[in-house]
Amino acid sequence: MYMKRGQILEVFIEDTKYPSIGIAKVENKTIEIKNAIVGAKVLVRITKNRKEKAEGKILEVLQYPEESIEPICPHSEECGGCSHQRIPYETQLRQKEREVLKLFEDAGIKGFKYEGIEKSPLEFEYRNKMEFTFGNLTKGGEMTLGMHQSGKFYNIIPIEQCKIADNDYNIILRAVSDYCRRKELPFYNKMNHEGYLRYLVIRKSFRRKELLVNIITTTQMEHDFTELADELLKLELDNTLVGFLHTKNDSLSDTVKNEGYSVLYGRDYIVEEILGLQFKISAFSFFQTNSLGAEKLYSVVQDYLGDAEGKVVYDLYCGTGTITQVVSQKADKIYGIELIEEAIEAAKENVKLNNIDNIEFIVGDVGEKLKEIEEKPDLIIIDPPRPGVGKKALQQIIDYGVPQMVYVSCNPKTLVENLKDMIEAGYKVERMKLVDMFPHTAHVECVVLMTNVKNK
Ligand SMILES: C[S@@+](CC[C@H](N)C(=O)[O-])C[C@H]1O[C@@H](n2cnc3c(N)ncnc32)[C@H](O)[C@@H]1O
Repeated sequence: MYMKRGQILEVFIEDTKYPSIGIAKVENKTIEIKNAIVGAKVLVRITKNRKEKAEGKILEVLQYPEESIEPICPHSEECGGCSHQRIPYETQLRQKEREVLKLFEDAGIKGFKYEGIEKSPLEFEYRNKMEFTFGNLTKGGEMTLGMHQSGKFYNIIPIEQCKIADNDYNIILRAVSDYCRRKELPFYNKMNHEGYLRYLVIRKSFRRKELLVNIITTTQMEHDFTELADELLKLELDNTLVGFLHTKNDSLSDTVKNEGYSVLYGRDYIVEEILGLQFKISAFSFFQTNSLGAEKLYSVVQDYLGDAEGKVVYDLYCGTGTITQVVSQKADKIYGIELIEEAIEAAKENVKLNNIDNIEFIVGDVGEKLKEIEEKPDLIIIDPPRPGVGKKALQQIIDYGVPQMVYVSCNPKTLVENLKDMIEAGYKVERMKLVDMFPHTAHVECVVLMTNVKNK
């Protein structure tokens, strides 16, 4: 059959590849389809047609696989947040491991001990942070506050009940949305950059049960949100509202950016406890979004790192120094390197909070800053952002020749690319474990233990 762009076909999803891209075959030609479920029959439009493979977009799901379940979230079909709610959680886990192991196999990485996937402690209500956006669902339509519609840049679907966040988020969301409508405040239009209301960010600490609410607007008008703060304080919540902030953000990019904020109630941070340590989380600092899952992840890192007693450890790409502090309890000395200055400021505050005195934090690019540390490492932990470790930094890391390294990755694709270079330089993948921090999405965290076989 001769396939054409724009053609509409009925296909069966045979398998998926990372990150959850459905694979269908039509006369030996592979069609890759986003957000498809294995075992489903779908109607697709061919969007790209190359010699080696084609790409398609789902127009309609004709038949779900037998084991599929009714999503408990009323928005799951259109919300860009979760795409896997029809798949039973156990099957989601099997799919994630299959996809990651296939990446390893395709990269020729063999001979390691695969130690399975750790479940998220909570299947639902696991998020400690949600970012909701003000906008509208259709051009010229009324204001909505919620999540981006799947695959759409401008459309915001109103969220009544988000199931990956607890019910307090939904109660606050409704109260803020009602208030803004009542006051007839205009939302910010991403097309012409006009308007006022941009985002609502809610953070929660699981162990302390604290909530921090942050409303983000442009400076195109002025509004005093104190009355909203009073209304939020009257809500019946399971957690305690400890702070309400109003942040200014005129940036043209569609991201929550802090261009100055005022505290309208309480304080500008929450405190979370992870593995017995305290972490002050400000409105903008990076923190793993699944607090209970983060405990599992960090425990795997500790286990893989092994005996750090009396050793010098480098924690590269350390963020707010969470892993750094967890590991510092055993190590003699630990150095954390991180690009973002605010993250290091937060890390330093947390170190004080926990009375830790064997950590040195360094702000800057790993590739630049490594050479400034005189004391050489005995062990290295790497937790880079999605693009992985750059070539220059990776070479410097390899050159230390440490006996063991632990690599934590949120992107298995770039992980295997880095691992290939490390293997070529004399390292071996010893153990690998996955930790599911993001149920109902395509994402997964990988932890890998590498040993130096060249210097043995
Ligand atoms: C996955 S996060 C690390 C998270 C941290 N280990 C934790 O568990 O909270 C990756 C971090 O790398 C930082 N980063 C990105 N590029 C960097 C670079 N070139 N040098 C140093 N840090 C970088 C990011 O700012 C981010 O905080």
